Amino acid sequence: MQEKIQKLKVGMLADLKVALSEQTIKEVEVKYFGRQGLFNEIMKTLKDLSDEEKRTVGKLANETKKELESASQKRYQELEHEKLGSIADDEWIDVTVPGKKPTVGHRHLLSKFIDDVEALFAKMGFVLGEGPEVEKEFYNFDQLNIPEDHPARDMHDTFWIKNLEKYVLRTHTSPVQIHHMEKTEPPVRVISLGKTFRKDSDATHSPMFHQLEGLMVDENISMANLKSVMTHFFQQIFEDPTIKTRFRISYFPFVEPGMEVDCTCPICHGSGKLPDNVPCRLCKQCGWLEIAGAGMVHPQVLENVGYDSEKYTGFAFGMGLERMVMIKYRINHMRLFFENDLRFINQF
Ligand code: FA5
Repeated sequence: MQEKIQKLKVGMLADLKVALSEQTIKEVEVKYFGRQGLFNEIMKTLKDLSDEEKRTVGKLANETKKELESASQKRYQELEHEKLGSIADDEWIDVTVPGKKPTVGHRHLLSKFIDDVEALFAKMGFVLGEGPEVEKEFYNFDQLNIPEDHPARDMHDTFWIKNLEKYVLRTHTSPVQIHHMEKTEPPVRVISLGKTFRKDSDATHSPMFHQLEGLMVDENISMANLKSVMTHFFQQIFEDPTIKTRFRISYFPFVEPGMEVDCTCPICHGSGKLPDNVPCRLCKQCGWLEIAGAGMVHPQVLENVGYDSEKYTGFAFGMGLERMVMIKYRINHMRLFFENDLRFINQF
C-alpha cells in the first residue's frame, strides 16, 4: 500500500508538471483527491490492515496528501507568474517614445480684440449695449435720421430680408444707440460691438464685418469729451502714448456736426517715414490714418427717443474693427479673418 501511495505521488507530480492551465490543475486535483479519486481508492483498503500498519500508512497518506496539495498550489503560482511574464512580453509600452502633442485651440484674433476693446471701454464707465443683427428698417435708418433717398437704403448696398417687409441685415451698429436710449434715461455711456453687413467685397471690405459703436449723452457733453475718449482709446489699443487725433468735417445724418476721426499712424508715429527715410506705406506717407466716423448726436435723434435735446447733448462714434486689427497687426487682406486658414490664425 505504501508503494501505491508512492506511485500516486509520482503520478500526480508528473501530471502537475505538464498542467498548463488552472483548469487542468483542477482536473488533476479531482483525479487524485476527488470523491472518486485515486487517493480515496487506496484509502478504502486501509481497513484491511493491522493497527500497526494502519498507523504507518495513515501517517504516510496524510504527509503525502499535504505535500501534493502544496505542490498543486505551487503550480497555480507558477502559472500566474508565467502569465504576468507573457503580458510583459506581449503588451509592453516604450515609454521613451516621444508623445503626440495635443493641439490646443485659442480665441480668434478678432474675438480677442473685441474682448480687449470691451475691457478698455468698461474702465471708462461704458456698458455694453445690444441689438439684433436682423434689424427693423425703422431702427437701422428712420430713427437715425437717414432719409428715404439716402444711398444706404438702396437695394445694391444693403441686404434686405426676403418676404420679411421692412427688415434688413443691419448695415452698422448705430441702431444699438436707439435701442439703448429707448430703455435708458441719461446719463448714457454705452458701446456696442458686433456683426454688420453690406454688399461690399475687396481687400479692405467684406460683406460681413464688425463695428464698434460708442455713445455718450449727458448735460454739457461736447466735442472735447469725444476727443479725449477717442485719443485715450487709440493710445491704449495701439499701445502708443504719443498718438494724436484730429477731426475732419464729414456727414452722417444722425450727427451734427459730423466728422471723420483720424489718428497719427502708429507705425511711423505721424512722420510719414520709417527709419532710414523709408516711406511709410500704411499711411501713404501722410502720417494720419482715417479710423472712425463720429459727431455730436443730432437733436432730432435725441427727440426721437424722447430725450430733451435742449437739456442733453451727446457724442457718437463708429468704426470698423477689422480695419483697426489690420493696422495693428499689419494684415493686408480682409478675407484672411474669415478663411479660417490655420497658417494665419496660429500666428496670433
Ligand atoms: C458708419 O457706419 C456710421 N454708423 C459710423 C458712425 C457712428 C458715424 C456714429 C457717426 C456716429 P461708415 O459707413 O463710414 O460709418 O462705416 C464705419 C467704418 O466701418 C468704416 O470706416 C470702415 O472701417 C468700416 N466698414 C464699412 N464698410 C465695410 C466693409 N464692407 N467691410 C469692412 N469694414 C467696413
